[in-house]
Amino acid sequence: MTDASSTPPLPVTIHRGDYRPYEWAIPEIHMDFQLDVQCSKITSQMHITRQAAAPAPLLLRGDGLSVAGVRVDGQDWNDWAMVGPDLRIELGERETAIVAVDTIIDPSANSQLMGLYASGGMLCTQCEAEGFRRISFHPDRPDVLSRYVVRMEGDKAQFPILLSNGNCIDSGDGADGRHWAVWEDPWPKPSYLFALVAGDLVATSDEFITMSGRKVALNIWVRAGDEGRTLHAMQALKNSMDWDERVYGREYDLDLFNIVAVSDFNMGAMENKGLNIFNTRYILADADTATDADYDGVEGVVAHEYFHNWSGNRVTCRDWFQLSLKEGFTVYRDQCFSADMGSEAVKRIEDVRILRAAQFPEDAGPLAHPIRPESFQEISNFYTATIYNKGAEIIRMMATLLGAERFRAGTDLYFDRHDGEAATCEDFVRAMEDGGQIDLTQFRRWYEQAGTPRLNMALEQNGAEWTLVVQQSVPATPGQPDKLPMMMPLRLKAFAMDGSDQVVADQVFTLHGAEERIALGRFDNRPALSINRAFSAPVIAQFMRGAGELAWLAAHDDDPFARYEALQQLMLDALVAMVSGGGDDTDKAAVIDAVAGTLTEAAADPAFVAEAIALPSEAFIGDQMLVVDPDAIRAARLALQSAIGRVLEADFRALLTKAAPPASDLSPTAKGGRRLRGVALTYLTAAGFVDAPQMALAMFRQADGMTERQAALAVLAHGDSAERETALAEFYDRYHNNALVLDKWFQVQSWSMRDDTPEAVERLAQHPDFTLSNPNRVRALYGALTGNQAAFHRADGKGYQLIADLVIALDSKNPQTAARMIPPLGRWKRFDEGRAAMMRSALERILAQPGLSRDVTEQASKSLLA
Ligand code: TRP
Ligand code: ZN
Repeated sequence: MTDASSTPPLPVTIHRGDYRPYEWAIPEIHMDFQLDVQCSKITSQMHITRQAAAPAPLLLRGDGLSVAGVRVDGQDWNDWAMVGPDLRIELGERETAIVAVDTIIDPSANSQLMGLYASGGMLCTQCEAEGFRRISFHPDRPDVLSRYVVRMEGDKAQFPILLSNGNCIDSGDGADGRHWAVWEDPWPKPSYLFALVAGDLVATSDEFITMSGRKVALNIWVRAGDEGRTLHAMQALKNSMDWDERVYGREYDLDLFNIVAVSDFNMGAMENKGLNIFNTRYILADADTATDADYDGVEGVVAHEYFHNWSGNRVTCRDWFQLSLKEGFTVYRDQCFSADMGSEAVKRIEDVRILRAAQFPEDAGPLAHPIRPESFQEISNFYTATIYNKGAEIIRMMATLLGAERFRAGTDLYFDRHDGEAATCEDFVRAMEDGGQIDLTQFRRWYEQAGTPRLNMALEQNGAEWTLVVQQSVPATPGQPDKLPMMMPLRLKAFAMDGSDQVVADQVFTLHGAEERIALGRFDNRPALSINRAFSAPVIAQFMRGAGELAWLAAHDDDPFARYEALQQLMLDALVAMVSGGGDDTDKAAVIDAVAGTLTEAAADPAFVAEAIALPSEAFIGDQMLVVDPDAIRAARLALQSAIGRVLEADFRALLTKAAPPASDLSPTAKGGRRLRGVALTYLTAAGFVDAPQMALAMFRQADGMTERQAALAVLAHGDSAERETALAEFYDRYHNNALVLDKWFQVQSWSMRDDTPEAVERLAQHPDFTLSNPNRVRALYGALTGNQAAFHRADGKGYQLIADLVIALDSKNPQTAARMIPPLGRWKRFDEGRAAMMRSALERILAQPGLSRDVTEQASKSLLA
């Protein structure tokens, strides 16, 4: 027997083409948990049936486990061996057997937060993707589905609440102050959906009556004292259940739905069958502690995890290469839900902003991969913006190509055909083809090719006839030098700017070839083209339009997304010109006029106006440039911000003088009103008005909710006023006992545009409230730093050094979270040689560490590839 925990991880690459079905079926598993924070004893009894034609041993995956006992059909069994971290049991000629394996683990020592771990005195699990093998030996692959019966027992005072998947079918008290419960999940599921929670929790309870009239008990479990902050999550859950019935015809399938909130969690939340486990950040919200964005995050993630019950649980993934099958589809579903609950236009703008900020850079860098990857070393590294957000765009394109009715026919067929199965992306596309009556042969390239397609567009004139010429190219990405053109829906409309009624009606063209010509018909003058409306395809559209045309579209387009795009493009063109040393006052004036024009609608649609008039981020400006110059970008952006603030001073002051909408009002109008006031404060501050810090402090102190309080604090944090220190101190005093709000205190300082932000991060890392054990806290301080372009890329390399130090310190504790900090260092090709060299050496320094995790090794070594 080898000691599993001392076996170094092998850099094994797993290939999609190597998929083979598992040799055994495991229709039933009975588990027994004797729970203890330091020493939990687990028995897993698997009913197995051979599927392979020839005799095969039973190969069970483990991670850091040792065997405490093996029995076959009730008899002690010695014919087994460890194969690295895994367990191989020889079963001779047997076709069926009941195999029991005992393991003993220490949840308190589990700092990776994968498997069974302790968080704030409770015990909880995280099994996706490969955490179940840290609890018990098991094939631990998503295509092995079993019915689980789970008996759990523990100290009643320490763990008064015992939860697992499905329904509680029995419970009772045992000896020595212990108690137990038996949970049965009637639905076969893969091991990654297993969950268990034991702790001192209180529930907010409600119920939902499904469309067929069944009553479902709903509970949101939190630590005592947090119950008052679960109402928004509960409402979101009920709205999600109702929405999935109305929009997809999908009903919930158990009598009980439990949600548990835990403070220490690697990701947002997890869709375990009947027992979702959430990062507290996506459950807890009240006006005093949560911003409007936090409220939206809660609603979106509650919906996301609930929707997984069908897109993920009832139909799961055959293997992890199919991850986007459940994640892309489920993100698309939660995006549509949130659009229905609030403002559709604003939601689309936000989603595209996220795609451009997180996914486009990924697709343009060394970690680029298709939404269905061909290979990986560590699957945790593939929970990416590409799989999730680009994956959602691919589903959205199919919905656009098909229209609502045929798309629904496609999803109905998909759910009917594959209910209870572990399916593939190909299964989904085929259901769309068969149910929606469409040929998606070429469209499948979206699953195969990485890289963001470019559409180069030009207008051709022939007399009064106008034609749009669209040239498509997909850039080379690692391992994919040559690309083929993609099929995609391109939504457009053309207007005559002279006010005549010449127009090309809104329509969707399906692009196929490398070059397409779209006849627009007759226009006396060059028409204004509204292109890729609603962002119908996830591409970079390159189309030369003058400031006049963009300003006209920003004012007149009837698609709010296209209006937003036109104004952003106008700003971007001015900013890029300024960064490269050009740019004149006419560029600025065109932007100021367009912002002024948009501001006149502030009362009617504050949510849209707030989105439209905010300048593009520094990172997005950088994405437009051959070589990113972080300092010049910051200077140009601040200069434009200042110019706008000075000219439109009166409008912005007026917005701040009016009373803010009450924090309890979460309508799109109220949220937009608050957002707009934050934008106004930003402009006035950039303009350098002497009373700006007082205005910010007044907003900070008078705020009746967190949205305005945080917005004011963030604006103050950029500067060096006395008000800044006052507000930071008051905020800390008021909220230092609330972990989620304290995260904001770290975050705003890390977001600061001050030159000394890297030093501030270094100092805050020594703060008694900072800890590497809590992923939210790590992200608040260091994630915010990598999102602060000029600070992270400060010319002396201090930002890179801080992130490399963090990765090295965090890797042995929590490799998953450590690995997620690496991609910003991999963008070195986009920067000047001085910065690029320092970024590479930071990566090399990480890789030189002995005993590095597979997670960090994969991300750092791939990030170095030219
Ligand atoms: N399936 C989860 C979701 O998207 C993601 C998730 C939660 C996860 N925890 C994880 C992925 C841990 C990997 C590791 O809803
Ligand atoms: Zn998900």
